[in-house]
Amino acid sequence: MPPPPNPPAKSQGFDSILLVHEQIHAGLEAHQCHLVKHGLSVYGFRAACLLFQAFGDALRAHIEVENEVLIPLFASECPPQLGCTPEILLAEHSKLLRLVDEMEARLLELQKMPGKSGGPSAPTALEVVGLIERQRMLKEVLEHHGIREAASFVPQLELAFEKRRRIDLLAQCDAIHHRAALLNPTRS
Ligand SMILES: [Fe+2]
Ligand SMILES: [Fe+2]
Repeated sequence: MPPPPNPPAKSQGFDSILLVHEQIHAGLEAHQCHLVKHGLSVYGFRAACLLFQAFGDALRAHIEVENEVLIPLFASECPPQLGCTPEILLAEHSKLLRLVDEMEARLLELQKMPGKSGGPSAPTALEVVGLIERQRMLKEVLEHHGIREAASFVPQLELAFEKRRRIDLLAQCDAIHHRAALLNPTRS
């Protein structure tokens, strides 16, 4: 199985959220590339599923950071933003979580299908094509959501807090991100 993507570079600003987004996107791409290159073998497919699981865990941790820590502050400390409200962000998070759950269930279903000899099976080429097609919606929502946050959510958070408070908040966020091994724990 290929190694996970490298951790993002250090940052003491909310732009570190954008680095986390890059890592999450890279995680999904790593899964898709592995699926296309090796997904027709039992062990190649299993490795591709593990990469999707790592992507899903990282995305869930990041959504938890935003839902529990950053969006409540965005709602209370930042001026209202057209096209980037807390409600829109929360709704997009719910949609992303649902799409990840559905894809994990489909990958599990394919892994459980018995092969000809009764052992584990690999998906067919058509099933792999079907997986990539089903992931299109997930990729699109992820991309649009990232653009929305980069344009408004992140810059507004950056404006709202002075350095000391920003560092404290980011430490709080990192503690959640680290659970998915997303960020470099040596950031200071
Ligand atoms: Fe985000
Ligand atoms: Fe988000």
